[in-house]
Amino acid sequence: MSTAQPVLEIRDLSLEFPVFGGAVRALGGVGLRVMPGEIVGVVGESGSGKSVTAMAALRLLPPGGYRVTGGTLRLCGEDVLAAPEARMRQWRGRRAAMIFQEPMTALNPTRRIGDQLTAVLRAHHRLDRREALLRAGALLRDMMIPDPDRTLRAYPFELSGGMRQRVMIAMAFSCDPALLIADEPTTALDVTVQRQVLQLLRHRARQRGAAILFITHDMAVVSQFCDRVYVMYAGTVVEQGPTGRVLNAPRHPYTRGLLDGLPERAEPGADLAAIPGRVPDMRRPPQGCVFFDRCAFADEACRRPPELRSVADGVPERRVACWHPLAPGPAAGDMR
Ligand SMILES: Nc1ncnc2c1ncn2[C@@H]1O[C@H](COP(=O)(O)OP(=O)(O)OP(=O)(O)O)[C@@H](O)[C@H]1O
Ligand SMILES: [Mg+2]
Repeated sequence: MSTAQPVLEIRDLSLEFPVFGGAVRALGGVGLRVMPGEIVGVVGESGSGKSVTAMAALRLLPPGGYRVTGGTLRLCGEDVLAAPEARMRQWRGRRAAMIFQEPMTALNPTRRIGDQLTAVLRAHHRLDRREALLRAGALLRDMMIPDPDRTLRAYPFELSGGMRQRVMIAMAFSCDPALLIADEPTTALDVTVQRQVLQLLRHRARQRGAAILFITHDMAVVSQFCDRVYVMYAGTVVEQGPTGRVLNAPRHPYTRGLLDGLPERAEPGADLAAIPGRVPDMRRPPQGCVFFDRCAFADEACRRPPELRSVADGVPERRVACWHPLAPGPAAGDMR
């Protein structure tokens, strides 16, 4: 695994949005790596920079609306920030495909599912219409859609939310990407349907050897779904590691706060609970630790920014950005 090339490698990425009279620092030195076939979670409160990180990876942020102020971003080894737009268009779909929360925004409401799927397939493969339609049917079947032929003839509004999400995932797999980036892919669905869709997504990814970067608020989903997890706060990674270790023995007070606040630790659909206080105003980002204002352990040392340091021998990806990491014991409840 250590010799393989990461499908996504983000190093020390800093990014800001110019706003009237200044800038919002959305990312302040984010590092994140996804290896082939891995399922990697990203969790954190609203506004922590999860979506911006995902969008930056495929260069989907509004051109001219943001500035990268440092760092690098590589997709299958190649530089995303320097790639010409034509190259980027080839990479989207093939190297990495995006799955959004609400499929209605990604699917065209006025075109039949079959037309939309075949259009995507024919944009990337040399296929005639009949071949493309066959391939589209097979993609739907792979997502366990019961009557693929009827679904191909349907318009998006004729399908249930869960079926639409399956169609969107089928579309994401159409060019056999090395990486799927799923941003809150099932938040809009009820819990049972959510589980089915996630299981299918994981099954398909494992089958195709695709990796997933999985963004979510839901710790229960992370615990069941992800191999490793990154915890983000205020545009930085504060903690990372194998899922079981991070959730069962969090070392950062922020992660601990997120987990202790869950009403029932493993309750499906449980959202991240409120930690007292608010995320800092990123027009004036804190000079030291970004969690300073909300942390019960903050002291003078924390006025300097902590580096993301390794905290477990033998598990190099187990890292925490904290001057006073918690003892490695278990948190209040157990998730795995
Ligand atoms: N176009 C934009 N212009 C200005 N600021 C932006 C823009 N897009 C995002 N931001 C800011 O960047 C920061 C990170 O936002 P992001 O959408 O990545 O958060 P998130 O972790 O995905 O949150 P959520 O869980 O609510 O989806 C926030 O402070 C947000 O206000
Ligand atoms: Mg988001």
